[in-house]
Amino acid sequence: MHSRIAGTGGYLPAQVLTNAELARRIDTSDEWVRSRTGICERRIAAPDEQTSDLALAAAHLALASAGIAAADVDLIVVATTTPDMIFPSTACILQAKLGVRNGPAFDVQAVCSGFVYALALADLMVKSGTAKNALVVGAEIYSRILDWNDRGTCVLFGDGAGAVVLVPAMAPGILSAHLHADGHYREILCVPGTVANGAVSGKPFLHMDGGTVFKFAVKVLAEVAQEALAANRLPASAIDWLIPHQANVRIMDATMKKLGLPRERMITTVDKHANTSAASIPLALDVAVRDGRIGAGHHVMLAGVGGGFTWGSVLIRW
Ligand code: ACO
Repeated sequence: MHSRIAGTGGYLPAQVLTNAELARRIDTSDEWVRSRTGICERRIAAPDEQTSDLALAAAHLALASAGIAAADVDLIVVATTTPDMIFPSTACILQAKLGVRNGPAFDVQAVCSGFVYALALADLMVKSGTAKNALVVGAEIYSRILDWNDRGTCVLFGDGAGAVVLVPAMAPGILSAHLHADGHYREILCVPGTVANGAVSGKPFLHMDGGTVFKFAVKVLAEVAQEALAANRLPASAIDWLIPHQANVRIMDATMKKLGLPRERMITTVDKHANTSAASIPLALDVAVRDGRIGAGHHVMLAGVGGGFTWGSVLIRW
């Protein structure tokens, strides 16, 4: 038994925040952000929108494209670092909003690698026969954990959600998944705050050592893609599409270079939504599936990296 992706969906909140608009609020410029990151604009969730609302919109689109009714979903995995609340999980809240009662629902917290982690887990559950129609979502509202006066971080992130539906298949589908973590790097990208005794202690805003993150991300994205190629006895040239975590176009370009792949085989959407953490890979996947770039038989490599540090790849034969 194998699993395959039967449908994809993506949702971005309506409010667009351009680099030019940011430059009116803080000491930055469109040129600085664009040339360092490739980001042109990001989306900001409305005050009454929750992560589960973004997840719901993406989930409806993924279910519609898979031709599967919400009532038939028997597993929900939501990758998020910005849940609606401490608990219950955003997956359980999404389950209720979908009007579904079947099967398990839980969140995965692996920051920007979250979607790759969630997809790898769902693949195991579908392959083993535990689930038949798995909804896997990456959804984030980073705008609420940013210090909007810190120009070094606030220009980099945005809000959004992406989703896929995973179903059983006689042939892959998902060829392999490789996941890694090294908590020794936990301080280079973190939100070092917590809720204790009814109050926030620590700093509940994103903190990042940009240069170290940059180098680490390029190294492990290339390594984990190569690990997947070796496991499947495929050369790098077999990758039709690489969908790296959409953090920064320079990190993504450097990864392509390390793999010896031309830029044309990379799916890039970071310019439109900035870094949406766990939502970035399914958002990019959805765009490339809908515009017809990804087609039957293509090898699609998803490669994620994020706080923790965590990283991982999922190789798919479409
Ligand atoms: N606008 C203008 N100037 C800025 C801004 C800004 N938004 N942010 C920082 N600067 C300034 C700094 O204060 C610094 O000034 P100084 O030299 O006077 O001290 C200067 O710009 C630094 O410039 P550079 O060294 O050219 O910046 P660099 O090329 O290192 O780019 C960046 C910084 C974009 C953050 C880079 O380190 C990076 O891309 N890191 C990876 C970060 C990333 O993508 N994180 C995403 C999360 S990680 C993940 O998802 C896995």
